[in-house]
Order: sequence, then C-alpha cells, then structure tokens
Amino acid sequence: MIGVIGTLDPRQNERERQLLKVIREQGNTPDAVCLFQDLILAHYQTYGRDLPWRRTTEPYHILVSEVMLQQTQVERVVLKYPEFLEQFPDLESLARAPRSEVLLAWQGLGYNRRAIALQKTARLVADEYGSNLPADVEMLATLPGIGRATAAAICAYAFNMPVVYIETNIRRIFIHFFFQDRQGVRDDEILPLVEQTLYRENPREWYGALMDYGTVLKKRTANPNRRSASYTRQSRFEGSDRQIRGKILALVLEEGSVTEEEVTARVSRDTVRVRRILEDLKREGFIAESGGTYTCR
Ligand code: ADE
Repeated sequence: MIGVIGTLDPRQNERERQLLKVIREQGNTPDAVCLFQDLILAHYQTYGRDLPWRRTTEPYHILVSEVMLQQTQVERVVLKYPEFLEQFPDLESLARAPRSEVLLAWQGLGYNRRAIALQKTARLVADEYGSNLPADVEMLATLPGIGRATAAAICAYAFNMPVVYIETNIRRIFIHFFFQDRQGVRDDEILPLVEQTLYRENPREWYGALMDYGTVLKKRTANPNRRSASYTRQSRFEGSDRQIRGKILALVLEEGSVTEEEVTARVSRDTVRVRRILEDLKREGFIAESGGTYTCR
C-alpha cells in the first residue's frame, strides 16, 4: 500500500476499457461481474491508500472516521482524525466530555452539527448498549447523525459484514461502468448491482477498494455523478451562511463569551444576518444566551 493515490497505469487503463466494452456488449453478466471485481481489487492492491482508519477495526474509531468523512475530504480528515482520537480515545471519554471541548476539537472539519450528533451517539451507546456499538445497520441508523450509508459503512469496516449501500464514491463507479449512456440514474437502480457485485469474501477490503477507485474516477473523468438522479452541486462556501456560522462558533469557542456587537465587529457587519444566525445557533443548541451575552453550551 502506498500513501498517495495513483492515476491508472496503462495496464489498468486497458483493463478498464475492456470492462466497459464487455458491459456495453453483454450487460452485467457473471463474467462482467468477475472482471469488475478483479479490476477494482487489483487497483487497490497497487494503489490503495494507507489511511489511518484502515489500520483499525475498533468500532468507535471507525464511527469517528465515517462521521468525519460524511462531508469533509479525506485529506482534511487525515489531519484531524488522530488528534481527535488522542483527545477522545474511547467512546466513554467522548460521552463524558463537555460539549464545548468536542466542538473545539471539531474545528476545521466544518458542519459542526455532526460533532454534537456524534457526542449524542456516544452518550446513547454508553448508556444503552454498554458502550458497544451494535453490529446492525438498522440499529445504528437510529442513532443521531448516522444515516443508512454511515451505518452500513460501520458494519463493513468495523465488522466486515456483507452489507449493501451506496454513497458518492460508490455511485460514481456504478454509473461509470453500468450506466454508460444513461442520464438520471436512480439509486434504486444502482443498489441491485452493488449487491450483485459485492466481494463477499472480504467486504471490508471491497468497500475500501471501491472508495479508492471512486476517488480516482473523480479526478480522471467528467464526474459520472452528474448523471445521477440525486446529483446536486455543493453551494459556494465563501460568503455563505455556513461560513458565517463557522466563524461565529469559532469566536464563541475562542473567547468563551461574546456579545452580539462583538460578533458584528469581528465576523460580519450585516447585523440582520448575524442576529438570525445567532438565533439559529442558539435554537440548535450550539450556544446559549443570557443578558445579551453568548456562551458555548
Ligand atoms: N468516504 C467515506 N468513507 C470513506 C472511507 N472509509 N475511506 C475513504 N473515503 C471515505
């Protein structure tokens, strides 16, 4: 395994062209499924990334990585993940921590709601499951901040279970190979193929291999996910409410307490917007307000 992801070498490239042709001519025959598995696994053997969450099967560590990876790129998660686990090495330490500490540790990952949800999950699992994450997609998916894809990913990476799921990298690969001339491809069309092609001998390895192939495809091709029925472009971050939210929360965490005037002076002069976002953050439980002063909860 090497640290960086490679572009396809000429042999891989040729194999991919072959496979695209076989699928175009025959569809998803057993032969095509075998070639597909071989291609994805061979690529992983040579170019698979050595990522820190691949060196563990500890369910809590996998949970943390999957929640971080929901909306943050691998390159950034790689930097934050070890720090976070050093500070909260097990589920109990995360469950016990003050919320402000968890939010501080999350800074730089964005979408701070995930940090709060992750801690709620840690508390629930500590209280109700004796600190053991259940090895069950349905049960995991009832926990805060864990959707079906994250629940299934935990089952695959931590428990090596042959689960079937779809997320952005997986969607990209299946659209690229199996829906070559289609627009508006729906997830319910893709899922049977995910099931049919699943390398059941080692689901952990298989899904890791799909992640890496999906990443390479994104860099190499016009994003096949544009042909997905669920495709939406991520909106601009610069100047967005999301950016202002992040800045306000970072300020409150840094200062301990701030007034609305301080926020307006240091984050944005747009008083109406600042007031609205402060209200949102308060309502969602990120911050508390008392006598015009905002603190972290
Ligand atoms: N994106 C979501 N889960 C991932 C994982 N385990 N590895 C790489 N990218 C991912």
